[in-house]
Amino acid sequence: MSQIQTHNGKAAAAARDGALLSAKNISVRFGGVLAVNNVSFDVQRGEVFTLIGPNGAGKTTVFNLISRIYNPTAGSIEYEGNVLTEQPPHRIASLGIARTFQNIELFEHATVLHNLMIGRHTHHRSGIWSQMFFTKSVRQAEIEARRKVEQVIELLDLQKHRDSFVAGLPYGVRKVVELGRALCTEPKLLLLDEPSSGLNVEETDDMAFWIQDIKHELGVTVLMVEHDMTLVSKVSDRVLAMNQGEVLAMGTPREVQTHPGVIEAYLGTVEDVSSLRREVSGDGPPLATKAPSGGSAAAPAANVGAR
Ligand SMILES: Nc1ncnc2c1ncn2[C@@H]1O[C@H](COP(=O)(O)OP(=O)(O)OP(=O)(O)O)[C@@H](O)[C@H]1O
Ligand SMILES: [Mg+2]
Repeated sequence: MSQIQTHNGKAAAAARDGALLSAKNISVRFGGVLAVNNVSFDVQRGEVFTLIGPNGAGKTTVFNLISRIYNPTAGSIEYEGNVLTEQPPHRIASLGIARTFQNIELFEHATVLHNLMIGRHTHHRSGIWSQMFFTKSVRQAEIEARRKVEQVIELLDLQKHRDSFVAGLPYGVRKVVELGRALCTEPKLLLLDEPSSGLNVEETDDMAFWIQDIKHELGVTVLMVEHDMTLVSKVSDRVLAMNQGEVLAMGTPREVQTHPGVIEAYLGTVEDVSSLRREVSGDGPPLATKAPSGGSAAAPAANVGAR
């Protein structure tokens, strides 16, 4: 779909056939805050679909609805023809949905290899007795797990870090390990919450490369939240812009970035949001969204309510 659509229900109806995930009129209220307000969108199989929007727009809340961390106040989400919002949270991984977090979530005092093996946990279906006696099926599952983990290590070029403890790794490598941990679950749908946050320009380029590989080589559908418009433009098939919980526009990266409502929502002053990047301080997480010259900076990333 290349047409800009303001939210009037048309978005949900568009191209439903190939949709892996459909959000239908979802809303979430936290006390007096309507964090997500009547949002609808479809994520087509095989695409990279990106949510953009200023801080507090409701992007992570949409992820938390899909992950079943929150229940919608209204609306529903369908995934592969099933109502996802009726599923218990612990079923999400086994349905083929994996995610990375806005703030990295890894076992810091375990090695990279162990963190990736933990990512395989959802595939272990054997009972306690077969595990105790290390039966043939358990052995086979273990071999399969190692094979998958090695494939991910190879794909993400993590060989030299495999036996390193996560806590001692640079931030940029930890971001890639978290991506790897999610991939080890062999997801159909991968949710990436700000994959470039805290990364420098070179690491962000690498991240764009991994995301393209994940799409093309593994055939995984990606739903991403991202602030770095260079990355967004490079990897996204379609973009949905949110502001204050609502859909502002949906279309190609270029269409959305030049949409007047989107420009207004971000800064109110710039003519093009395509140059927005995260400002990175040393090894740590991002400090703020940097405004292009002449514009005032958008509100700092407070990670409010983010998981
Ligand atoms: N658990 C919660 N309790 C109360 N309010 C919440 C909760 N989670 C999110 N919010 C509020 O919902 C709104 C949307 O937050 P959300 O984290 O989804 O924004 P975001 O678009 O991901 O922003 P950012 O770019 O800063 O990560 C904010 O006003 C936030 O304060
Ligand atoms: Mg967020």
